[in-house]
Amino acid sequence: MVISSKKYAKDDFRWAPGGENSYGHFARYYDQLGWKRFTDSTFRKLEKILKSFNLPEKRIIDFGCGSGELLVRLAEMDFTGAGIDISPGMLKNAMLKLDSEEFELVQGDICSTKLRGNFPLAVCFFDTLNHIITKARLRMAIKNIVGHLDENGYFVFDFLTPEGLSDWEGTEINSEDEYCVIQRGKYYQRKNRAEITIEGFVKRPDGYYERFRQEIIHRGITVEEMTELLKKAGFSRISMRGFFYDWELEEGGRIFGVALK
Ligand SMILES: C[S@@+](CC[C@H](N)C(=O)[O-])C[C@H]1O[C@@H](n2cnc3c(N)ncnc32)[C@H](O)[C@@H]1O
Repeated sequence: MVISSKKYAKDDFRWAPGGENSYGHFARYYDQLGWKRFTDSTFRKLEKILKSFNLPEKRIIDFGCGSGELLVRLAEMDFTGAGIDISPGMLKNAMLKLDSEEFELVQGDICSTKLRGNFPLAVCFFDTLNHIITKARLRMAIKNIVGHLDENGYFVFDFLTPEGLSDWEGTEINSEDEYCVIQRGKYYQRKNRAEITIEGFVKRPDGYYERFRQEIIHRGITVEEMTELLKKAGFSRISMRGFFYDWELEEGGRIFGVALK
């Protein structure tokens, strides 16, 4: 699969705006189709760990903020801050939910987009780091993240390991009255990649169904690679666990991590 952003016109159901892995029309349906539900798990874990952080102020930057679900929950806890995402559609969703005086939302690449000011807390969740498909760009992303943190600032994140990525292999169909979604994934162990196609039809208010198709490439990240990149970027203390049930690392295809600058 080759992701070419300019391949389809903006009104084509396969359109993906500039840059690899940038969500196109799929962004319109991201929340409705249930992807936003992952934020429940993320928020539960983040809320728990925040109690031990003793942050000097409630400010956060969310790298790959998507449709803004996590920031909405943090706004309810009186956080303010910023979000960066490469997809204009995902950011549009976030803008509808968040107060522009409290959160600066910027369209950009997390590998290179620099906002003014630093933050005591940065997050990057739900496979966003796996959307960065070369090690060189992942290094840039981590450097950019550390560059947005105060001294003693925290970075909280998740990612899928190569084992976790292998779960993408296969086809899933989810058919409801309001939509039909077909998700197909292929895992290439030697390339350390999963190539995923999410496509389907969503019912419009006029009763007709609109088609969308999103192609996504994920790259697996090992705990060793992430540890090395975080250390080289200047993080001093790093802790990682399996995301679910605090599994031991080797059991966790999805890793939850905290790093202190
Ligand atoms: C699975 S979504 C997760 C969104 C959000 N973090 C959440 O937890 O719901 C992945 C997000 O990463 C964004 N993304 C992918 N590559 C990116 C990049 N290089 N820079 C910024 N955002 C990126 C996508 O547009 C998408 O919104």
